[in-house]
Amino acid sequence: MSTTRGVATAPGRGQPEVPKYVAPKCIDLPDRQWPSRTLERAPQWCSVDLRDGNQALPTPLNPEQKLELFHLLCEIGFKHIEVGFPSASEDDFSSVRRLVDENHIPDGVFIMSLVQCRSHLIERTLESLEGVKHGILHAYCATSDLHMRQVFNLDPKGTIEMVTAAIELIRDGTSAMPESDIRFEFSPEEFTDTDPAFALEVCEAAFETWGKATAEKPMILNLPATVERRPPNHYADLIEWFCRNFRERDKVTISLHSHNDQGMAVAATELALLAGADRVEGTLFGHGERTGNVDIVTLANNLRSRGIDTGLDFSDLPRIAETIERLTGMPIYYRQPYAGEFVFTAFSGSHQDAIRKGMHKLDEAPRKFGMGWKVPYLHVDPADLGRKFERLVRINSQSGKGGAAWVLEQDYGLEVPKPMHPELGHAVQRLADEVGREIQSAELYALFESEFLKPEGPYRLIGYWPRPDDADPTQIHGELKVVVDGVEKTVSADGNGPVSAFVHAMQQLDTPAFTIDDYHEQAVGKGADTKAMAYVPLKLDDGTVIFGVGEDTNIDQAAVRAIVAGLNRVRNAQKQ
Ligand code: KIV
Ligand code: ZN
Repeated sequence: MSTTRGVATAPGRGQPEVPKYVAPKCIDLPDRQWPSRTLERAPQWCSVDLRDGNQALPTPLNPEQKLELFHLLCEIGFKHIEVGFPSASEDDFSSVRRLVDENHIPDGVFIMSLVQCRSHLIERTLESLEGVKHGILHAYCATSDLHMRQVFNLDPKGTIEMVTAAIELIRDGTSAMPESDIRFEFSPEEFTDTDPAFALEVCEAAFETWGKATAEKPMILNLPATVERRPPNHYADLIEWFCRNFRERDKVTISLHSHNDQGMAVAATELALLAGADRVEGTLFGHGERTGNVDIVTLANNLRSRGIDTGLDFSDLPRIAETIERLTGMPIYYRQPYAGEFVFTAFSGSHQDAIRKGMHKLDEAPRKFGMGWKVPYLHVDPADLGRKFERLVRINSQSGKGGAAWVLEQDYGLEVPKPMHPELGHAVQRLADEVGREIQSAELYALFESEFLKPEGPYRLIGYWPRPDDADPTQIHGELKVVVDGVEKTVSADGNGPVSAFVHAMQQLDTPAFTIDDYHEQAVGKGADTKAMAYVPLKLDDGTVIFGVGEDTNIDQAAVRAIVAGLNRVRNAQKQ
C-alpha cells in the first residue's frame, strides 16, 4: 500500500492502483422534497434491544434479564419489540416461547422474531410465534453487491429466488396460524450499499410473494443502513426515492434501521423520516453491533423537544439508564445525550451565570419567546426526564462566582446577595485550586460556614440584649458581652435600632472602624425550624467591603452575629 497526497491507495493484483476509500455515489434526485419538510409526528417505534442489542453484548442477557428488559420496553411504550432470533439460538427460542406461554405480552404489543431467508430456519421461527396474539415475522437477506459476491456467491436472480422461496414458506406457515395476527417484515440487509433499483426489485418481489398486505395490515419494509457507509443526506435521498417508486406504497410501512458507524445514525434517521419513512427500529442508548443501532432515547427526546408527542415515556430516565447499565454491564457515557451524568451540568462560570438567570426568569419565557421552556444552555427541562435533583451547576476551578451562589441556593436555600458573590467566588476559587478537582455541594457549604458564617478570629459573642427605651421605644439600649482576644468584656450603647446600638457598642472595643449601609436578610427553612440569615457588608475606612453572615432564630441576633463574623474576617484579612 502507498500514499498519494495523504490518501492511501491499494494495488489490485495486476491492476492499476485505486484509492483505498472512494466517496459513495447516490441516486440522482434533484427534486428531493425532504429538505424543506418538518417532522410533525412521531414514527412507529420498534425496539430491537432484545435482538440486535443483545447479540452485540459481551455477555448476552440471560432469560430472567430478557424478561426484565421486555417489561421495561413495554412500560416505556414500545408496541413493536423484536425479541430474538429463535432459529439461531435455543436460548432465544425459549425466551420467545416464555413470553407467549406465560402471557407476558400486553395487549396491542407485537413481538417480532427474526429469521434469515433460509427455508430450513423458517419452521422453527414460526414455531416460536405459535399462539401469539400479535406477532411479526421478520425475514432478512443481504442484497448488496458486496454481500452477494463476497459472502454468498449469489447473483441478483439467485438472491430474489432465495427471498421469494423463503417468503412463500412464511406466507403458508402464517396462513396455517389463523388464531394469530402475524404480520410480515422484510429487510434487504445493507440496503444503503445496495443498488437502489435492485433493492426496489427485491422488495417488490417480497411484497408480491407475501401477497397479504393491506392498508390496514401493511407489510413492513425495513430498509437498513446495516453499516453507516454514507452521509445522512444519502439515506434520506434513498428513502425518498424508494417511497416514490414503490408501487403499492399505501400497503407497506417503510421502516428505518440505522447503525452508527460514522456517529450519525440519529441524524440519518431524522432525515430519512423527513423523506417519508413511517417507522424506526433502534435500541435504548444505542446498544447494538459495533457502534450500535440508532439510539431511540436520543431520537425520541429530540422529537419531544420540538413539541412532538412520541408515545414513549422517558419521564424516569435515570431508572431506565440504571436498569440498562445493570443488564448490559456497560456504563452509559457521561456525555450521552439526555442520560449522561454531565449533560445538564454547567461547569463554566459564564454558563452557570446564564443558567441561573434563565431559571429565575423562566416564567417570563412564554410571553417573551412563545414557549414554556427557554433557558440558556439547556434545550430541555431535565425534570421532564426525571432528573429532578439535577446538578445543573457543578463547581470546579472554571466555575464562576454565580455558580457557587446557585448551588448554595438550590441545595441549602441560601440567598447569597449579589454584592457578596465576588468574595464567595474568590474563596471557592482558592479551594478549587488547592484541591484541583470538582468541589462537592457539602464541601461548598462547609467552606461557606468556615469562611463567612463561623470564621475563626479574635471576637466571640457571648450575648447581646437590646431593650427599647421606656419613654421612646424607637431608641434601643443594648448590652453586649463578648470575648476579645480571650478576654471577656461587657459594654453598652444606644442606637435607633438593635443593630445600630450593637455597632456603637462594638466600636467601644477597639474594633476596626466600619459602617453598615444596608444588609440582606432572609428566612431559611419552614415552620418552627425557620431560621433567619443575615448577610452584612462591613464597609471599612479605605472603602473595602467585607461580608459576614449570621444565623439565628431572631433576625436582629442573626445580624449581630453576622457583624461579629465580618469583624473576624476583617482581622484575618489584616493579618495576611
Ligand atoms: O442491521 C441490519 O441490517 C439488521 C438486519 C437484520 C435488519 O440488523
Ligand atoms: Zn442491525
